[in-house]
Amino acid sequence: MRQPLVAGNWKMNGSLKANEALLGDLRKALSGGIKAEVAVCPPFVYLPQVAGLIDGQPMALGAQDLSDQDAGAFTGEVSGTMLKDLGCEYVIVGHSERRSLYGEGDEFTARKFAAARRHGLKPILCVGELLEERESGVTEQVVARQLDAVMDLEGVSALADAVIAYEPVWAIGTGKTASPEQAQAVHAFIRARVAERDAQVAEGLRILYGGSVKADNAAELFSQPDIDGGLIGGASLKADDFMAICRAAE
Ligand code: G3P
Repeated sequence: MRQPLVAGNWKMNGSLKANEALLGDLRKALSGGIKAEVAVCPPFVYLPQVAGLIDGQPMALGAQDLSDQDAGAFTGEVSGTMLKDLGCEYVIVGHSERRSLYGEGDEFTARKFAAARRHGLKPILCVGELLEERESGVTEQVVARQLDAVMDLEGVSALADAVIAYEPVWAIGTGKTASPEQAQAVHAFIRARVAERDAQVAEGLRILYGGSVKADNAAELFSQPDIDGGLIGGASLKADDFMAICRAAE
C-alpha cells in the first residue's frame, strides 16, 4: 500500500511574514492528524525559516531544485549536501519550468536526480508533455524519454527511494486540469514503463499528479488507482485550499 503524498511547490513565492502566517494556519489544521504525507517546498532562501516552523509537525521539508554538483566553484548553485544540512527530505527535480525556462534537458535532469540520491534526498522527478506534444499524440513517448534518462543513468532501483510527478505542462498554472481519466492513463503508463524493468519497484512507486489541482477536483483525481497524491502549486499558498487537497488524499 502506497502512502499518499501531497507536496506544496511554492515556486518563487513567499516572505518571512507570509510564510509564518501560512505555516501557522497549516499547523493548526494538521493538529487533528492526517493520513497523507505532507511536504512543503519553499524557495531556497526560506528553507531555514520553514524548517523551524514545521519542526515537530507532520510535515516534511523539500527544496525545488539542486545543483548536479556537490561543492566548489559553482557560483549561485545550491548542493544536495546543503539541502540535507537544512533538514530537507525531498527535492523537486526536472520541473517543467526548469526544463522550459532554463533549458534543463533530460540528461542534466538525470544528473540532478543522481546528485539528490548521493546526498540522501528523495527526488521528486517531474515529467510531462507540452500541449503540442499531447495534441500530436506523443505524450507517452515524451514521458518515456524523460523517465528512461533517469533509469538509464541510475538504474530502476533508484526509483525505490524516489517519487515521480506527472505534470502535463498545459495544466500547470492554467486552471486547465487534466481529467482524472487523462491523468490516470499517463500514471498507468509510467508505472508500466517502470514495471518493464522491475515490477516490485513499480508497485511501490508513488506517482503524483500536478497541474491545477484544487480543493474541488483533488478527490476525483486522487481516487484514480495510479494517482498517489499531488504536487501542488498555486493552491499550496493558501492554507485552507492546501489542507482540503491534503485531506482529499485518502
Ligand atoms: O509543481 C506543481 C506545479 O507545477 C503545479 O502548479 O499552480 O497548476 O498547481 P499549479
